Amino acid sequence: MTVEYCDFTQLEPEEQTLLQIAQAVMHNAYNVYSDFLVGAAVQTRSGSNYRGTFMENASQGLSVCAEVSAILAANTAGELNIHTIAVVGGPKSKPSDIIVTPCGRCRQVIYEASQVAQCDIDVICSNKDLTQILRTKISYLLPLPFGPSDVGALAKAMSFADNQKGKV
Ligand code: THU
Repeated sequence: MTVEYCDFTQLEPEEQTLLQIAQAVMHNAYNVYSDFLVGAAVQTRSGSNYRGTFMENASQGLSVCAEVSAILAANTAGELNIHTIAVVGGPKSKPSDIIVTPCGRCRQVIYEASQVAQCDIDVICSNKDLTQILRTKISYLLPLPFGPSDVGALAKAMSFADNQKGKV
């Protein structure tokens, strides 16, 4: 799979729900340095959904993205077994058809989660209004990745989620 552009109605109900969760949470973004909104939501193997939004920082390189927040929310709950991530966003103060896709750092973090889940994570991205949507996979967004196997930690990464206690 490369990239597939689709309508909201063509998505599975669970994918639609993830996009709607991401769309709702984007309004909580701490965005005092940008005119931007991003929300993200992940679904884990158990069917649980976790969400996150971004938090900017006066020292701008320290901003934390929505995707990272959502993945950390899943891990904090003891469920790093993610199979899908939805990302929704755009400019705060005007409509936009531009689809927000994960930044480079987020792609690396999603890739790490994909190694834990042993799953080529589905990435569903959208504009603010859910009128422009694309579906792809982390392997397409991050070709030739550097990951746990490069540092001899693949077995540990792969067994991590199994050893988690689950939802807390
Ligand atoms: N941002 C995200 O949260 N995720 C992305 O994939 C792209 C960018 C945030 C970071 C920054 O605070 C704001 O959007 C504007 O770039």
